[in-house]
Amino acid sequence: REAKHYLGVADDLKLSVNAIEVLKKRYLKRDEFGNVVETPGEMFERVASAVSAVERRYEGDADDARKKFLSMMRSLSFLPNSPTLMNAGLPLGQLSACFVVPVEDSIAGIFDALKYMALIHQSGGGTGFSFSRLRPKGDVVRSTGGIASGPVSFMRIFDAATDVIKQGGRRRGANMGILRVDHPDITEFIACKDRGGMDNFNISVAITEEFMRQCERDGSVELINPRTGEATGEMSARDLMVMMATYAWRRGDPGVVFIDRINALHPVPGIIEATNPCGEQPLLPFESCNLGSVNLSRMVERGEISWDRLEETVRLAVRFLDDVIDANRFPLKQIEDATLRTRKIGLGVMGFAEMLIQLGVSYASQDALRIAEELMAFITKTAREESCALGRERGSFPLFEESSLKKWDAMRNATVTTIAPTGTISIIAGTSSGIEPLFAVSFVRHVLEGARLIESSPLFERMASERGIMTPALRAEVARRGSIQEIPGIPDDIKELFLTALDISPEQHVRIQAAFQKHTDNAVSKTVNLPEKASVSDVIKVYRLAYELGCKGITVYRYGSREQVLYLGEPD
Ligand code: CDP
Repeated sequence: REAKHYLGVADDLKLSVNAIEVLKKRYLKRDEFGNVVETPGEMFERVASAVSAVERRYEGDADDARKKFLSMMRSLSFLPNSPTLMNAGLPLGQLSACFVVPVEDSIAGIFDALKYMALIHQSGGGTGFSFSRLRPKGDVVRSTGGIASGPVSFMRIFDAATDVIKQGGRRRGANMGILRVDHPDITEFIACKDRGGMDNFNISVAITEEFMRQCERDGSVELINPRTGEATGEMSARDLMVMMATYAWRRGDPGVVFIDRINALHPVPGIIEATNPCGEQPLLPFESCNLGSVNLSRMVERGEISWDRLEETVRLAVRFLDDVIDANRFPLKQIEDATLRTRKIGLGVMGFAEMLIQLGVSYASQDALRIAEELMAFITKTAREESCALGRERGSFPLFEESSLKKWDAMRNATVTTIAPTGTISIIAGTSSGIEPLFAVSFVRHVLEGARLIESSPLFERMASERGIMTPALRAEVARRGSIQEIPGIPDDIKELFLTALDISPEQHVRIQAAFQKHTDNAVSKTVNLPEKASVSDVIKVYRLAYELGCKGITVYRYGSREQVLYLGEPD
């Protein structure tokens, strides 16, 4: 085989050095001595074979599906979430990224959840929990006559366990911890990272419609003990809002989820309390979901969106993700049962920023908002049609008759779309992550074990070379600054196209998120970047706008407010 060798791995697909680095470290199959024994191309073959094999159950043409899945992945038009790439066709066989585990208000219940978390992390999945059912700190423990220690103290055990498990895994375990805004321990929860620890948790406050109403009229929220259902006190809604925004301003945590809205829009019976670690996938207790993303930068031909290619990719991706449910080895019986009842899948996108650049559209423009809506409307409509076709062929998901989707004649999956961060798969695909703008025109990425990857935008390299402005001095200057906005000698039209996360207003960040959310079944992963000099009231404005525009949650990140994964410019 004529394959180039990078970093000791045969590169049969001409991937970037960064992609090979990531694949080699954590994705490619290894023998018992820890040697890498497959190429990236063979990894895709392994995944395509394992996933398509289940089509035989439905008398589908498994070989035809295998070829199509393979070509869709090899061309980097679509990639499934990391656990599918890592585990398909291997003994572990756990293929999903997202899980939600319920936490009952009892010692046995809490430690069951802890054990389930361990099993899920071991298999490469991330876990979300609501701790809202736990009785507050200081409440009575009837069986012992003692005093309850409250949700936050238990979260610390989950955090510590995650630390221990990650030593053995391929992927650092990630958690989401959620507490309702009306839980008596809410202020301790919001401040829980002050004492250190909790590094393995993203935390989010579940905000209710009632809370938003009380914020508007400067009223108060009753704090309710979940054990008794009785109010234990009340707090000014605005004070709570300011507290959340202050902590988010200081350290990016907590995020916010609009929990009543999530439930109101959820198509099947059951109450959603939590989301997966990055917030884009709300799930019922014990549900899991597998994600996959279309690479939009591969969907442009001669400066225009190729709707035909997009449609074909979306249809095939839906079939792929539905097959993944059947090919999956679930870490627990409860998870298998809950997942098979709804058969949720989460198809999303990556490379949106690069697509806009190829189309000659600025991320900061009205056109970008229009394209976001149009694209996602098309993707969800197409995905739903395909799921309907699969439903006719293979049967609808078991809760279909009780769902709001029953106006269709069949439906294979209760949800079809989710926008994931694509933190790793976008590196493999060599494109911008999710729907985020470029983080920088050139930047240094810190990955696992302190390794640093330098990345610069190939589109910028190409455009600057075509215009004859690329020089070694310019390249060095771009790497130093990250942003090109203040660099003299770069034409304005190029500056407008290559805006980075911090060159874009917080309002536009929220509007882009909302444009995608409008046509996404599940939720949207997006970070609203704020400049270092932003204020706490800027954060509150972002929350308000996100709520008004119909977002299901919101996360802000003020530049430099805590240790970060991505840095602008060269490291010191
Ligand atoms: O790009 P990749 O498929 O690796 O993942 P992502 O799109 O960045 O994240 C999707 C989901 O994977 C997250 O919301 C988590 O549920 C899960 N995840 C995790 O469990 N552990 C990580 N270290 C990263 C992601």
